[in-house]
Amino acid sequence: MAFYPMPVVLVGANVKEKPNFLAIGWFVNAGYKPPKVAVVLNKAHYTNQGIKENGTFSVCIPSDDMIVAADYCGLFSGAKVDKSKVFDVFYGKLKTAPMITECPVNLECKLDKTVDNGQHEMFIGDVISTYAEEKYLTNGTPDLQKTKPFILAAHGSRAGYYTLGEPKCEAFSVGKNFKNK
Ligand SMILES: Cc1cc2nc3c(=O)[nH]c(=O)nc-3n(C[C@H](O)[C@H](O)[C@H](O)COP(=O)(O)O)c2cc1C
Repeated sequence: MAFYPMPVVLVGANVKEKPNFLAIGWFVNAGYKPPKVAVVLNKAHYTNQGIKENGTFSVCIPSDDMIVAADYCGLFSGAKVDKSKVFDVFYGKLKTAPMITECPVNLECKLDKTVDNGQHEMFIGDVISTYAEEKYLTNGTPDLQKTKPFILAAHGSRAGYYTLGEPKCEAFSVGKNFKNK
């Protein structure tokens, strides 16, 4: 649903032993226990090679002050430009999933399965670890007012990045007062 707002995340993989990142909007939670995520990547992308090579990848959630670098990673392929120095990179337990120091939240993922969707492939990964500095948390979980993610909304040829405002009301709660007919 290209017309629907999507979170922008950076997917990282080591390709030929060098970190590479691309920007995606097609990212979703895919399981709770155990925690899983899914990313949908065009088969032509360079990053796919690394995910297959190592069986690992990362989902790095950038803040809105990283928009320009994130957009760059979505415009230029690692097949043509070296994106290994765009960010400061660190590795976790899996050793081969590159993560981004500047990102408030990073998910380290082990490839669980690959779904062939024709032009695209969907990589479903087990989230092995989540990395977030204390300053981005409230009561132990990432706080969107602190991590400041941004979203992509694309309508035909018009596309823009949007930041989040204040929460409008409390989720999983406000509907309790709805008067059903
Ligand atoms: C905001 C944004 C969102 C994108 N979303 C996706 C996506 O969901 N899936 C995808 O395959 N490509 C997506 N792209 C395109 C890739 O990021 C782009 O083709 C990138 O250069 C591929 O890099 P690579 O070849 O180094 O892997 C997006 C690009 C941008 C700028």
